[in-house]
Parts: sequence; structure tokens; C-alpha cells
Amino acid sequence: MNILETKKITKHFDGVYAVDGLSVSFEKGKITGLIGPNGSGKSTLINLLTGVIQINAGSVVISSKEEVIKILPHEVSDYGITRTFQEVRLFEQMLVIDNILVVLTKRNVFSSLFETHKKFHLERAEEVLKKVDLWKKRNDLAKNLSYGQRKLLEVGRMLAMSNGFGDDSDIFFLDEPFAGLFPEMRKIVIGVIRHLKEQGKTVILVEHNIDIIRELCDHIIVLDNGKLLAGGIPSDVLSKREVMDAYLGE
Ligand SMILES: Nc1ncnc2c1ncn2[C@@H]1O[C@H](COP(=O)(O)OP(=O)(O)O)[C@@H](O)[C@H]1O
Ligand SMILES: [Mg+2]
Repeated sequence: MNILETKKITKHFDGVYAVDGLSVSFEKGKITGLIGPNGSGKSTLINLLTGVIQINAGSVVISSKEEVIKILPHEVSDYGITRTFQEVRLFEQMLVIDNILVVLTKRNVFSSLFETHKKFHLERAEEVLKKVDLWKKRNDLAKNLSYGQRKLLEVGRMLAMSNGFGDDSDIFFLDEPFAGLFPEMRKIVIGVIRHLKEQGKTVILVEHNIDIIRELCDHIIVLDNGKLLAGGIPSDVLSKREVMDAYLGE
């Protein structure tokens, strides 16, 4: 079953077609790898599906019921969608733990006034930070984290964003979460993604490392110049001549 489907969506920036009449679908409970050369439209597609920017034409079908033209930023979580950003966005002057707490409480401003909920938020923050191996760093300022730790905190923020009071997300977009990570940290992110799948969640992953894609993904979508170049199971897609050419041509 498809949880998310785009119908001929287009986004252009001053004549550059970043996403060009693209129709793709994402299967519920699966990990889909979104690959393609730099500038092929991967981040733009995620930005469109998470309401950061608006489509120029086409529509999006969410959970096979709602066909929408506009996904607005404040509605994204109502659709059960959450994400990481390719360029990590942290509150630099805040503690690591506060970077998580602010996400948890933002989704529950009213309930965060109550002591029992404060305790709930702290427990949840601890759980998230342990999951991304940053619990020991909880009282450091975000700006003092290493590059890899920043990427992990971004993943932690996605997890925090996804789980408030019974309004869990179903769809997770991760835009190059492995970029520049050492193997130990990669393992942590792989663990987070595998765990999401075990929970029946849908994951859409942008990643350049083909070994990671092969290891994790059930399906692959290859973009080139904002268009679909190939789609299907990894062994089929990655053996296609045109896919290899698109990469080698970079
Ligand atoms: N905000 C923007 N303004 C102008 N051009 C953009 C913007 N975002 C993306 N683009 C252009 O759209 C194309 C696709 O970019 P992007 O989606 O970031 O590719 P990818 O993530 O696959 O590397 C590129 O040509 C890029 O320069
Ligand atoms: Mg990108």
C-alpha cells in the first residue's frame, strides 16, 4: 500500500526545473532510498512533501485519502510527516538536551505547563538522547558538538518531533543523515532507521553511499534533473546502465 504519492508535481526556481512533472510513490512500512546526482531534486522533493516550499503544479496523495495541492508547514505533523534537514539546524546557544526539549514542548505547549508532563518530556528526551548516543553530552552547548554529533542531534530532534502525546509520525524523511559520519556514528543512524521500520514506519532516505542504500532499502527511486530515472528494488535499479551513467557523469 502506498502511504504517499506524488502526481506530476513540478517546482521551478527562476526557470530551473528542480522537480519536473514527477510521479512517484512510497510504500507504507518500507525504507525507500532516494538517490541521484547532486542537483537532481532530492532535497527539493523532500521540501515539497514537508511543506517547506510549495509545488507549482500537480498534487500529492497522503495515506490514499487526501489529495492535496498545498502542504503547509504547520499541517505537516498532522499528516504524520517528520524530517531531518541536509543542513543541520540546531539552536546553537542552547544545551543539547534543551534542543530536544524545545521540540517536545513546542508540540505540546499547553501540556508542558504541568509537572507530570515535564517529567514525561524529560524521560522522553533521555530516551531520545540515549538512542543517538548523546546522553553524555546533554549538558554541552550545541555549538560545541563535533560535526558527527550535530548530525546525530538532528536525527534525535526528528525522533523527538515525531512522538508527542499519541500523535506519532508515520513518515520519516532523512536527507543525507550519514554524510561525513564515521562508521561508529553511521551504525547509530542505521539502528535508528531499522528501529523505525520495525515499528511499521515509512522511511525515505537520501544517501549517496550505495552500500548503505543496498543494505537498508526495500525500494529505490532515482532522480535525474527532477525526473524519475528509475525505480524498483535495489538489485534491479542499481544494475541499470542509465543509473550508473547518471552517477559516473557527475
Ligand atoms: N531555493 C532554491 N532557489 C533556487 N534554486 C534552487 C533552490 N533549491 C534548489 N534549487 C535548485 O534546484 C535543483 C535541485 O536542487 P536540490 O533539490 O537541492 O538537489 P539535490 O538535493 O538532489 O542535490 C538545483 O539545480 C538547485 O540549484
Ligand atoms: Mg540535497
